[in-house]
Amino acid sequence: MATNNFPKGFLWGGATAANQLEGAYQEGGKGLSLPDVLPGGKDRMKIIASPDFDFKINPDYVYPNHIGIDHYHHYKEDIALFAEMGFKCYRFSIAWSRIFPNGDEETPNEEGLKFYDAVIDECLKHDIEPVITISHYEMPLHLITEYGSWKNKKLIDFYERFARTVLTRYQDKVKYWMTFNEINSAAHFPIMGQGLTISNGAGDKKNVYQAWHNQFVASAKAVKIGHELNPDMKIGCMILYATTYSYDSNPKNQLASLQDNQANNFFCADVQVRGHYPAYTKSLLARQGVQLADIDYNDEELALLAQYPVDYIGFSYYMSSVVDVTHENQETTNGNLMGGVKNPFLKSSDWGWQIDPTGLRIALNQLSDRYQKPVFVVENGLGAVDKPDENHYVADDYRIDYLREHIEAISQAIDDGVDVMGYTPWGCIDLVSASTGEMSKRYGFIYVDEDDEGNGSFNRYKKKSFDWYKKVITTNGADL
Ligand code: BG6
Repeated sequence: MATNNFPKGFLWGGATAANQLEGAYQEGGKGLSLPDVLPGGKDRMKIIASPDFDFKINPDYVYPNHIGIDHYHHYKEDIALFAEMGFKCYRFSIAWSRIFPNGDEETPNEEGLKFYDAVIDECLKHDIEPVITISHYEMPLHLITEYGSWKNKKLIDFYERFARTVLTRYQDKVKYWMTFNEINSAAHFPIMGQGLTISNGAGDKKNVYQAWHNQFVASAKAVKIGHELNPDMKIGCMILYATTYSYDSNPKNQLASLQDNQANNFFCADVQVRGHYPAYTKSLLARQGVQLADIDYNDEELALLAQYPVDYIGFSYYMSSVVDVTHENQETTNGNLMGGVKNPFLKSSDWGWQIDPTGLRIALNQLSDRYQKPVFVVENGLGAVDKPDENHYVADDYRIDYLREHIEAISQAIDDGVDVMGYTPWGCIDLVSASTGEMSKRYGFIYVDEDDEGNGSFNRYKKKSFDWYKKVITTNGADL
């Protein structure tokens, strides 16, 4: 299909997160962060979910985030490769513990800031617009061990200081920001975004809602700071979106999927975009055994939420999900920090995530209809096992097919009238997986020679998808 409806200035690019690619976990004055204590391997989430998980480095495990892909020392080479593909933008995050090593210091670590000065200047040198996630699954560890993480209101002040520092420093260089990566993922797994797991309170749902409330306030403060510094700044939320279907037309399943959508897809964005808690809040909390009276909030905070909603909706989209409450023993699937009932109409990735480009078109329409604000696909892609030949070349036609179909879906959504700002496929260069801590789950256009244990040359090689994506960008999506 030829698509030539992508608007001029469409932000084609790619996305990464500091903790998954930088490495250098103890260089430049960086403090330990949450991912530095997350073991690598398929059991990562199981280990974290254990009531004994103690947020300490255990010599029996491998910690792939410690080395990432050593982007800290390769950033110039990596950004040059992004530029060669023609990236208009590059989405990355700032490791909070490079700037405030413990999170509660009064003054920032200048060496950490200098690193991001260099990364941003390198992007600008290549005419690549930086798109920054302020917090992407990488809070300073000390804020968890000393303060109990996001359920503690003090975190609002610490985040505000961090956000003010980076927004101020980069106010003239960076226009596009997001406050928290996949803020709603805590509905499934509160560890990554909120620093909460069974061993420190995630079992009590009220802690998750308290943590969210604190994050909403922190996010609104960041929007306030950003807009006061530079009214042209665009500051978005970022949610994990899995288009969610009812298994069948049984009204019980229809109702369950509506409630699932409220709980998992919409709740956080409803607050961050509309500036107030949705009408269904009380009943949603009640379904999870939480009373409004359990949450510590005040009028001043609610006024902040109302006054400083986000400018756009950034979201990740990898898969769709199916809800069925009427059959027992349904086959289930894995997913992006979540699972669901298997959809008989869809194929799955090597990691069992269901591939559904039409679901992306639906997602774009649903988000646009609901919020009437621009939307930005800031993550999408296929995690797959790549098999390089003797020249380190990966013929990743499967990835090209996945991306092509999803770009076509975006094009169709644009025809549907959706205002789409851009597209930044996840892990544009191979990096450490968030859910499993593996290198072998690869998303990139660029192959990094490194295995799950962190061994390899760390050389970068262009995959087949590299040239394909370059062509897509050059033709502004007309030639897929
Ligand atoms: C999103 C995250 O959940 O999906 C990324 O924002 C993550 O950090 C991406 O890497 C893909 O997930 P995974 O588990 O395959 O790395």
